[in-house]
Amino acid sequence: MKKRIVFATGNVGKMKEIKMILGDLGMPVVSMKEAGIEADIVEDGTSFAENAQIKASAVFEKCHDIVLADDSGLEIDYLNKEPGIYSARYMGEDTSYHIKNANLISRLEGVPDEKRTARFVCAIAAVLPNGEVLHSEGTIEGIIGYEEQGENGFGYDPIFYLPQYGCTTAQLEPDVKNELSHRGKALRAIKEQLRKYCEEGAYEDTDRQ
Ligand code: IMP
Repeated sequence: MKKRIVFATGNVGKMKEIKMILGDLGMPVVSMKEAGIEADIVEDGTSFAENAQIKASAVFEKCHDIVLADDSGLEIDYLNKEPGIYSARYMGEDTSYHIKNANLISRLEGVPDEKRTARFVCAIAAVLPNGEVLHSEGTIEGIIGYEEQGENGFGYDPIFYLPQYGCTTAQLEPDVKNELSHRGKALRAIKEQLRKYCEEGAYEDTDRQ
């Protein structure tokens, strides 16, 4: 079978970033949709890594390519790492991030900078054609701001302030964010593991029709 990577996401923005970072591995990187795979996946793991593996394994059942999946979110230390693995579902999937961000800011009212520490986390799982599973994780540390700032990015970016850059991740240019971000770091780490796997000749090319 000709080698390719299927990434278990339907998110177009993520796919762009993923293709940019994994592009030099020398094999096509396609989304589930591009691979013609549909899967209704219940993310009921208790950690980012577990959820990533659940997604990757569910898609692997439907093809036997190299399958990658990620799971990510925001951990706020003062809130016992909330919203964590529930970041997308926090206050309901359909609630706007403007409202979610305002809620988190209000839960930190009166909390000084040094206790507003937070991080974005991204875990990636890769299921290989031989069933082996690889994992990587990337983080970016910051603090929760006092108001939304910036128009770039998505989700919690407007309240995720990077003291060393003097701005939020929503104020960074996309390529700068990719360079620094939890997802960029996790993708580059899994890429090195995949490169080793391919170099070891464990995944030989044969013909895919
Ligand atoms: P998922 O990994 O696609 O399930 O996304 C998890 C959720 O975490 C997103 O819906 C956002 O709420 C949040 N999140 C993950 N990465 C970022 C980021 O880079 N910026 C802002 N929010 C993020």
